[in-house]
Amino acid sequence: MLFSGYLTIVAIGYLMALVQILFTHGMADGQFGLSVDDIVYSYYGKRSGSVIENKLNGSMKTMAPEEERLKIINWIRKGADEDAFNADIRPIIESRCIACHSESSGMHLPDFTKFENILKRAETDSGASFSSLARVSHIHLFGIAFIFMFVGLIFSLAAGVPPILKASVITMPYIFLLVDIASWWLTKLSPHFAWLVIIGGGMMALSFVFMWTVSMYEMWIMPLKNADSRDALLDE
Ligand code: HEC
Repeated sequence: MLFSGYLTIVAIGYLMALVQILFTHGMADGQFGLSVDDIVYSYYGKRSGSVIENKLNGSMKTMAPEEERLKIINWIRKGADEDAFNADIRPIIESRCIACHSESSGMHLPDFTKFENILKRAETDSGASFSSLARVSHIHLFGIAFIFMFVGLIFSLAAGVPPILKASVITMPYIFLLVDIASWWLTKLSPHFAWLVIIGGGMMALSFVFMWTVSMYEMWIMPLKNADSRDALLDE
């Protein structure tokens, strides 16, 4: 029950992480679903435009009607002047954005009640900042290593898996966790590495699914089958 409870909660956590990825990175190119473009835009940035413009065409697209989004984008393209901001743009930001983008929202997002925070994001979008990469990297390294410690420990008790396969599957998430995180930093430097992010994350998920399924199977389904064959033997 302890192992099954843990595996169930961790699996739901994994699904939530995927949903979160779909809603943030997945929307970076303005379309639902994860693509190589999404990864390039998230880490390397979409350097043809500003952060606000790209967000307004991506994950923030639904936050304001077309007309208001274009107004904000045009204001940035014309040089993000403060007087023009106060005249035309501030009311839009106040009615559409600061419900989330302010300190009082408690969402820890950039505070758009302050002009300088908007100005900073009117500059060229060069993707994830080094400080945010460092933050997310250390959280992932600690957190995911912990998750795979217990998933691997439970799977290590499996009876029907050859030792070499077992050792490989247990090692895989650690190797691909490193590949995954290294690939974020590499993609920040060059968009060519975006496919490595997909391979790293994909292989990590694959090893998770394999360990999870084998562990659950051996705990819940295998005993039933063994009991059936024992009964059959007793009947004879
Ligand atoms: C319902 C809450 C909500 C509203 C309303 C909202 N945002 Fe956001 N915004 C978020 C969340 C959550 C993120 C972080 C995830 C992401 O980047 O998609 C974010 C991120 C951003 C970022 C990236 C910030 C950074 O540099 O890390 C920009 C720019 C942005 N929003 C602009 C806007 C603008 C402009 C509006 C108003 C038209 C707006 N948002 C309205 C929730 C909101």
